[in-house]
Amino acid sequence: MWKAGLASALLLLAACAESPPPDPNRIVAGNAAQGELYARQRCVICHQIGDRGGKIGPVIGEAMKKAVERSTSFEAIVADLERTNPEHREEKRAKIDPILAERDPERRLRLWLATYLGDPRFENPSNRMQVLPMSPEERANVLAWLLSLR
Ligand code: HEC
Repeated sequence: MWKAGLASALLLLAACAESPPPDPNRIVAGNAAQGELYARQRCVICHQIGDRGGKIGPVIGEAMKKAVERSTSFEAIVADLERTNPEHREEKRAKIDPILAERDPERRLRLWLATYLGDPRFENPSNRMQVLPMSPEERANVLAWLLSLR
């Protein structure tokens, strides 16, 4: 009995460490209001949202600006990664390449954010954000809310 429990706990851990890359065509339209509720419970531990929140991460509006910046200059970021950490570039190929291939800036930003929320180190191995296990629906909601902050 305990073995089955252990096996599923390990599976869950594995799933957290390596969530599959999001499919750009399957990023569903989320509910921004639900996303905000989630963020005010979970992301707020580290990010300031409105007038409250932790200081471990940047104020959420600034974090979102950074995400826009990184998805806009993604070619340069990946070129840099290729030079400084080719193993990481290779390991994250399945997550990085679909973003590079996405030419539409809005779709690219969505995909960047969706990938980031599932694996904050995917394009920057020294990123300090921890992954939060989220259901696809929660992720879509948070994404819709983040995009509404611009
Ligand atoms: C355990 C603390 C922690 C939690 C929880 C957390 N973050 Fe972060 N987040 C960080 C830190 C730290 C950074 C800065 C990363 C860096 O530059 O190393 C960051 C950065 C970001 C960025 C900017 C991307 C970048 O490259 O810096 C976004 C967007 C973001 N977080 C969104 C979220 C959202 C949305 C949630 C909730 C689903 C969340 N974070 C939960 C700590 C956290």
